[in-house]
Amino acid sequence: MSVLLLPKLCHRRCRPSFVITMSAVFNFYLVIAISGAVSASPPLNYHSIFSFGDSLADTGNLLLSGAVKFHVIGQPPYGETFFKRATGRCSNGRLVIDFIAEAYGLPYLPPYLAVAGHSREKIEHGVNFAVAGATALDARFFYERKIGAILWTNDTLRVQLEWFRKMKPTICSTKQDCGRYFERSLFMVGEIGGNDYNYPFFVGGTMAELKAMVPLVVEAIAAATSVLIEEGATEMVVPGNLPIGCNSVYLTLFRTDKKEAYDKNGCLKAYNGFSKYHNSQLKAALAKLRRKYPNAKISYADYYGAAKRFFHAPKHYGFTEGALVACCGGGGPYNFNNSARCGHVGSKACRDPTRYANWDGIHLTEDAYRHIAMALLHGSSASPPFSFSPN
Ligand SMILES: *[C@@H]1O[C@H](CO)[C@@H](O)[C@H](O)[C@H]1NC(C)=O
Ligand SMILES: *[C@@H]1O[C@H](CO)[C@@H](O)[C@H](O)[C@H]1NC(C)=O
Repeated sequence: MSVLLLPKLCHRRCRPSFVITMSAVFNFYLVIAISGAVSASPPLNYHSIFSFGDSLADTGNLLLSGAVKFHVIGQPPYGETFFKRATGRCSNGRLVIDFIAEAYGLPYLPPYLAVAGHSREKIEHGVNFAVAGATALDARFFYERKIGAILWTNDTLRVQLEWFRKMKPTICSTKQDCGRYFERSLFMVGEIGGNDYNYPFFVGGTMAELKAMVPLVVEAIAAATSVLIEEGATEMVVPGNLPIGCNSVYLTLFRTDKKEAYDKNGCLKAYNGFSKYHNSQLKAALAKLRRKYPNAKISYADYYGAAKRFFHAPKHYGFTEGALVACCGGGGPYNFNNSARCGHVGSKACRDPTRYANWDGIHLTEDAYRHIAMALLHGSSASPPFSFSPN
């Protein structure tokens, strides 16, 4: 069959061989010309990172903003493993964004609230606008539905974008100047959106109600990505949601005797299905954005797939206590106890967090975040891959 088809295909698509040869020769000289130009300049790398999102990326903003509802992130055991002090990160150590900064030889991103109003030198390698507890949707959405009071913060994605706009004149002025600067700036838009679902799920929202929110949340993330591109950003990475059905807090709150509710890894199928539902809509929205902005590089970061690997084979990743039980908590089958959450009276941290993927019942450990970061940088979890190779 293929032999018969070949001449037909060739008839339409093949060019005369001398044309191919000529273009190969031309390309050869082109490659020499380009590589000659490149070798004279410094190795290509990101020189700055701008990050937006929630507790998966916050390096201190919520703490600096007051953090009334989650003040424990300012105390031990938060931060105990790497920084040896509580920085406001919701983990025992570094987050995905920290490992990405390290990989490109950049300093850890300062939280916006620590550097707002400072000189260009303080912010030239990037700024982190992410705030733990932040939602992609405006706070008004939750207040209108009578659940506004449970939000940890009002510093939503829109507020974070306003912060960026306020800071931008310190970084660059003209359109051309900004374009040149942002060419080598990595923009991480998220993870964000997880909290838009956490809050309503935790107060009894139904699966149907939550599914109806997904297009709104995805639209908010896509709109923020557009705004940043219009501001001059070109290197975009937009992460999806984690497999929430494998998260200790979900496993505790929605625990059931029905065996069929769990997958082979012990995760709640319906909630992982929900994450996939969000992620597939986000991917479709990003595909649309790529058509709208052909000059921007818009990468989807598959946090779900990257994390699913260690939920599937925790011991392979060194998580000898399994990936579903939290290191720090106040008891219960997943060591998540809402009356004694990590950092509160009645809770305690495990002795060796490297054996756990889950840190405090909600957030992951530094080792889990490292695996996700490495899957983005060196694996296949960023599609398309990042423009510049890590050091
Ligand atoms: C968010 O805004 C509302 C209404 O403006 C306010 O009542 C609430 O205290 C704010 N929440 C936080 C966490 O700052
Ligand atoms: C949860 O914490 C409360 C308060 O410390 C405690 O009384 C209770 O026994 C804990 N529950 C479990 C399952 O350990």
